Amino acid sequence: MTELPMTVSEEGLPERVTIYEVGPRDGLQNESASIPVEVKEELIRRLLAAGLPVVEATSFVHPQWVPQLADAEELMNRLGDLGRDLPVLVPNERGLDRALELGCRHVAIFGSATETFAQKNLNRSRDEQFAMFEPVVRRAREAGLDVRAYVSMCFGDPWEGAVPIDQVVSVGRRLLDLGASLLSLGDTIGVGTAGHVTALLEAFVAGGTPVGDLALHFHDTYGQALSNVQAGLRAGVTTYDASAGGLGGCPYAKSATGNLATEDLVWLLTGLGIDHGVDLTALVETSTWLAGHLGRPSPSAVVRALSG
Ligand code: HMG
Ligand code: MG
Repeated sequence: MTELPMTVSEEGLPERVTIYEVGPRDGLQNESASIPVEVKEELIRRLLAAGLPVVEATSFVHPQWVPQLADAEELMNRLGDLGRDLPVLVPNERGLDRALELGCRHVAIFGSATETFAQKNLNRSRDEQFAMFEPVVRRAREAGLDVRAYVSMCFGDPWEGAVPIDQVVSVGRRLLDLGASLLSLGDTIGVGTAGHVTALLEAFVAGGTPVGDLALHFHDTYGQALSNVQAGLRAGVTTYDASAGGLGGCPYAKSATGNLATEDLVWLLTGLGIDHGVDLTALVETSTWLAGHLGRPSPSAVVRALSG
């Protein structure tokens, strides 16, 4: 029998949330071990079978920048029709061309709220990044694709320190105004705390962005991710990014560690009586299986508690 928390609802929270699984992309982009493409394929199939409604599959970035995902074409070909509905990262037109060639229907651009990270992650200044994204979003929309936008370093930057809230709102707004349908606010290095999340969401809403256009993307470096999710739920956010087993990080962000573990998120949502549609047993089995391939145990507290 799977252990599950007792459900005790809290008034005013969403009834249902979408978990946007980033393990195969954010999780595996940072692995030093090389993961065979057939393991990636099985991971994605298992995550979908566990009930995750959206699984971000891979990135069409420069293969020398992220060699871990250099097998993007092979992976998508192996997934066939299933793959075309899974979102993929595309930084520029070259990335979009690669995604279009494979029939992908959902793409994500990824911008930076700070100057240093724009340079390190995209080889562009903060202003230049918009010129790179503009034709990507325009062409993707013309081709009928759905576009998500990420904004990184929303809560702190390892080189620049604290990031002013109005700076994040301004970059995020510009990304949405290009034509993205959803903006995912990334705490790339996991330094944010709950009050900061509340303030950032309030600033977006005050600037005219509906809360339904926002998603939250937490890394768990300082153990704040679940508390930050709770702040997001109280503000009405209904999309949360998470990574099976808590894998993850960004190779171009010093001190970025694992994402919020999907299992930990599922435990919280189940306890609050919020619908998510994910089978926790199947998910824990998947993360335990993947940990075997990676050669180290999952950092997720829930995976450790349930697989012992
Ligand atoms: P660049 O070197 O400036 O590229 O890199 P360029 O435009 O000058 O082109 C140079 C060469 O690269 C050209 O080839 C291009 O065709 C080729 P040449 O003509 O010299 O033979 N090229 C490509 N090849 C394949 N696919 C492509 C591509 N683009 C150019 N897409 C670039 C600029 C954006 C490409 C590079 O900086 C890059 O790939 N960056 C990606 C970094 C990355 O993937 N980071 C991790 C994801 S972000 C993240 O994890 C944060 C997130 O999780 C949210 C959070 O936690 O905050 C999303
Ligand atoms: Mg990330």
